[in-house]
Amino acid sequence: MSKNKLEAVIEIRDLRKSFGDNHVLNGFSMTLYKGENLVVMGKSGSGKSVMIKCLVGLMLADSGFLAVMGKEIKTLDRKTLDALRSDIGFLFQGSALYDSMTVRENLEFPLRRHKEKLGNIKDTLPLVHEALENVGLAHTMDLMPSELSGGMKRRVALARTLILKPKIILYDEPTSGLDPITSKEIIQLMRNIQKMYGTSSLIITHDVDCARVISERMVLLVDGVNYAEGTFDELSKSTDPKVEAFFKK
Ligand SMILES: Nc1ncnc2c1ncn2[C@@H]1O[C@H](COP(=O)(O)OP(=O)(O)OP(=O)(O)O)[C@@H](O)[C@H]1O
Ligand SMILES: [Mg+2]
Repeated sequence: MSKNKLEAVIEIRDLRKSFGDNHVLNGFSMTLYKGENLVVMGKSGSGKSVMIKCLVGLMLADSGFLAVMGKEIKTLDRKTLDALRSDIGFLFQGSALYDSMTVRENLEFPLRRHKEKLGNIKDTLPLVHEALENVGLAHTMDLMPSELSGGMKRRVALARTLILKPKIILYDEPTSGLDPITSKEIIQLMRNIQKMYGTSSLIITHDVDCARVISERMVLLVDGVNYAEGTFDELSKSTDPKVEAFFKK
């Protein structure tokens, strides 16, 4: 983070989102700086996925300021928003592969959606191959998702996120539902990707081990706000009961 200090790639200010009486986000703010791995932790149901969905425009925020790479989301027309989205990789909670498509077709999907980003590339095979190679799964190209293990699916989903060479990657629970060893492999992959492509990453997790290994900075989402932020070491030494609760095993 030191090199590119203070260049914000994502800015969230005073984000609010309620569903009826369920006030999920009550003025949440945070900044993701260029090149860093920022982990957002919050307990289940605290609004982590809602926050990330508002950010990419999958869900409409009630109010607040949301900007990606200096552009305020709600001021953008559809075309500009679409172009901006192609710079943001989003690894959904779960894997969200299309079950009726082969691995190759799953990876070609974003390529077709964001053709303009690639110029007029006709042969997508080398791109699919490269993305799968990055996650060690080039040999699965013609398999169906049902033929893959949970960890392999997550890696294919990661490859699909990488194929557009995003500048920012949003990871929603990248290790949930995986055994500890597979989780470690996924975390290692995420680190390699950051090194290889210099991406900035927002990582949502409630996995303390994942946070320890990957975070350069952390934000704790409690009661709909950014309750505390700092490095893993700083936060794990806190004596605030709401912060301590995250680190107790
Ligand atoms: N589309 C929706 N309609 C109504 N309520 C919703 C909707 N999406 C989320 N919520 C509610 O918003 C709250 C936060 O949900 P969210 O999915 O963001 O939690 P989370 O922090 O991601 O949890 P988890 O760690 O389990 O993934 C929950 O109370 C949920 O019921
Ligand atoms: Mg979630």
